[in-house]
Amino acid sequence: MHQVTLNYADGVSHSFEVASGELILDAAIAAEVPLLYQCQSGSCSSCAAQLSSGDAPVRAGVSSTLLASEVATGTRLLCVCEAGSDCSFELPYTSEAGSGAAHAVHAFIDSVEQIASNAVRLTVELAEGEWMEFRPGQFMQIEVPGLGVLRSYSPSSVGTDVPKMEFLIRILPEGAMSSFLSKDAAPDQVLKLRGPYGSFFLREEKKRAPHIFVAGGTGLAPILSMIDTLRQSGGRKPPMLLSFGCATPDALFCLDDIELRKQWLPTLETRICVDRDPQEGMHHGNPVSALREGDVKPDTVAYLCGPQVMIDAATKRLIELGADPANIYSEKFTPSN
Ligand SMILES: Cc1cc2nc3c(=O)[nH]c(=O)nc-3n(C[C@H](O)[C@H](O)[C@H](O)COP(=O)(O)OP(=O)(O)OC[C@H]3O[C@@H](n4cnc5c(N)ncnc54)[C@H](O)[C@@H]3O)c2cc1C
Ligand code: FES
Repeated sequence: MHQVTLNYADGVSHSFEVASGELILDAAIAAEVPLLYQCQSGSCSSCAAQLSSGDAPVRAGVSSTLLASEVATGTRLLCVCEAGSDCSFELPYTSEAGSGAAHAVHAFIDSVEQIASNAVRLTVELAEGEWMEFRPGQFMQIEVPGLGVLRSYSPSSVGTDVPKMEFLIRILPEGAMSSFLSKDAAPDQVLKLRGPYGSFFLREEKKRAPHIFVAGGTGLAPILSMIDTLRQSGGRKPPMLLSFGCATPDALFCLDDIELRKQWLPTLETRICVDRDPQEGMHHGNPVSALREGDVKPDTVAYLCGPQVMIDAATKRLIELGADPANIYSEKFTPSN
């Protein structure tokens, strides 16, 4: 048996015992320790924690979304690692955030609107008497009707919009959810949702600091939810920079929504990026190459969402520009299979 201690961002700590060969997340769940997790298989990063003392090896033969360099600097996914000695971890969220249990709800489809060459906006309304609370940036799992498989999606709407919820979804050729949404989905059809999940959410305690948001493709969804939450919160708004990119202008979406937010939020600056065929006012390149000297202040908080390669590049660039790694939060849209 080894003693594992989890230290939360609010100063609370929980200790529990982990048997030899047992996964740390399994032991934490059995001990009813509040923790954020979802897939329990190393693919969603919800259970990420920073090893601060001791030894916690990744179980042999198990794969995860972490890079070897992340493991080398102490990042662990608690669902795929064991305790090699007594050890402790730092968690990037409060003990209260960790206690929000996921639950299932039913929702009726309101509309599926094509918003770009390969993206749709799915709007749903929760069934009467059912409710969902989530933090801006967290994600839900939606079951693909008829197939029973689950896919993860982050609402672009905010908690105060419930019972309505909105998602921005990239359409992939032959994808299970993609095919359902582009061919079969119809108004009033019932969807099963489960959530909320994930540790990628707006940090309320840092809301006065300058913010940088970097979004690739439909990674814009949780970022819009965060920007709207900051807009709704009282008091002076922080300086915000949104760098959002897609491959080509026809793949861009929500530009009107972004423009509207710029009018509502004078402290919001935006850079719209495309890899090819830029139109007037667009940055030619990806949303990481649009970041430049002077963007980062010592206390800047950054939220990154999109494909893994973009997250890795954005993290590296922000640190080069002076960001504190502890203030960089990210969510990778890893493929479901
Ligand atoms: C935490 C989390 C939050 C997410 N939030 C969103 C969101 O808000 N909006 C959104 O559009 N997507 C989001 N995703 C991705 C989403 O869950 C699905 O993976 C994606 O929509 C594909 O589902 P599908 O059923 O259409 O395709 P699948 O049936 O899963 O796959 C079809 C084909 O596409 C490939 N593929 C699957 N996913 C990807 C990918 N992301 N990139 C490249 N190739 C892929 C598969 O390998 C397969 O070959 C999120 C993923 C995670 C882990
Ligand atoms: S719960 Fe550990 S990676 Fe998903």
